[in-house]
Amino acid sequence: MPAYIAFEGPEGCGKSTQAARLAEATGAVLTRETGGTDIGVRLRTILHDTTVDDLADRAEALIAAADRAQHIAEVVRPALQAGRSVISDRSVYSTLAYQGYGRGLDIDAVRRINEWATDGLWPDVVVYLDAPDEVIAERMRRRELDRFEAAGDQFHERVTAGYRTMAAADPERWVIVPAIGSIDTVADVIRRALDARAR
Ligand code: TMP
Repeated sequence: MPAYIAFEGPEGCGKSTQAARLAEATGAVLTRETGGTDIGVRLRTILHDTTVDDLADRAEALIAAADRAQHIAEVVRPALQAGRSVISDRSVYSTLAYQGYGRGLDIDAVRRINEWATDGLWPDVVVYLDAPDEVIAERMRRRELDRFEAAGDQFHERVTAGYRTMAAADPERWVIVPAIGSIDTVADVIRRALDARAR
C-alpha cells in the first residue's frame, strides 16, 4: 500500500534533509508544502515576504490551505492513486501548529477548513523531528529570518508545544524522532522507527 508520509518540525530541525534522504532511499515521490506546485510557489511568496506586515491570521491560514488544496489535487492524490508513496516536507499539521497553536486560531476551525481543502486526505504517518528549544533558537540566530522565523521566541514555543500536543494525542500516526546527532544517525533512527511501525 502506498503511504502518505509527512515530515514536521520547527525550522532548522533538519526535516527537509531527512525527507529527501528517505525519499531517495525508498523511491517515494518527494514534495513539499508550501510551494509544492507552481500555484503553491506563487502563494508561498506572500507567506514569506518580510515586507508583508498586515496579513490577517485567517488569511494566512487560508493561503496555506489553498496551497494544500492545490498540492493534494495536483501531486499527492495522483501519486498515491498511481501506487507511489509520497513524502512531504510539511503538511496540514504545519497549519495546525503555526496558524492554530502559534497564531491562536481556533484549532477545530483550522481542522475543518483543511478537511475540506484536502477533501479528507491527511497524512498516514507524521515523522516529527523534535529538537530542543534552545537548539532551534540558536540555529535561528544564525539565519536570515523570514516572516515566521522572525515571529519571536514565544510564537515558536507555542508551535513546538502544539506539535507535541498533537503527537501525544495521536500516537498511531505520529513518530517522534529526536533531531540530535549526525544526519546519518537521525536518518537511521527514522528508518528503524518506520520499519518497526510497518511490522
Ligand atoms: P519551510 O518551507 O522552510 O519549512 O518554511 C515554511 C514556513 O512556513 C515555516 O516557518 C512554517 C510556515 N508554514 C505555516 O506557517 N503554515 C503552513 O501550513 C506551512 C505548510 C508552513
